[in-house]
Amino acid sequence: MPADPSIAKARPKAHAVLFVCLGNICRSPSVEGVFRALVRREGLSDRVYADSAGTYPYHVGKPPDRRAQAAARRRGVDISLLRARVVEPQDFFDFGHVLAMDDDNLADLVAICPPDAPTRPRLLLDFAPGAARREVPDPYYGGAADFEHMLDLIELGASGLLEQLRAEGLWRRGWAPR
Ligand code: 4NP
Repeated sequence: MPADPSIAKARPKAHAVLFVCLGNICRSPSVEGVFRALVRREGLSDRVYADSAGTYPYHVGKPPDRRAQAAARRRGVDISLLRARVVEPQDFFDFGHVLAMDDDNLADLVAICPPDAPTRPRLLLDFAPGAARREVPDPYYGGAADFEHMLDLIELGASGLLEQLRAEGLWRRGWAPR
């Protein structure tokens, strides 16, 4: 994809994290909620920013899937107020981490990532080397057990990611909301 001159160049907020799946109604809002809850528990809410998006626009503006909301609620996380959006090339300038749930999402992100963007997409579970899988499977056509499995993997990824941010000391640089 050629560079889009309309894209504003900005330094990445290295402590800003964008989670990406296909529809932005199951996996990525779930990990956004779990990660935000973890960040809040650690007292880092004013230093670490999280958002989520989808690679396809099927569900733009919608809240998370009811099954994802229910599964998150069972673990004490409320994701009901999140709304789906589509990932944009500008996100690779605004977020220091753009993290895909599976290899298909990752390939779609690679395809839209501007060549001069400072952030390259990666997989969420790159931050959970002990996890049994390297992708978070799509639970959309599955059942309740698939949503539980999704959350098990997401919790590993979210805590591994926060440990990485801690190790890098990124939150000490401060964060200015846009
Ligand atoms: P997500 O799950 O990518 O985890 O949000 C899906 C949501 C919707 C569809 C597929 C996957 N869909 O085909 O509508």
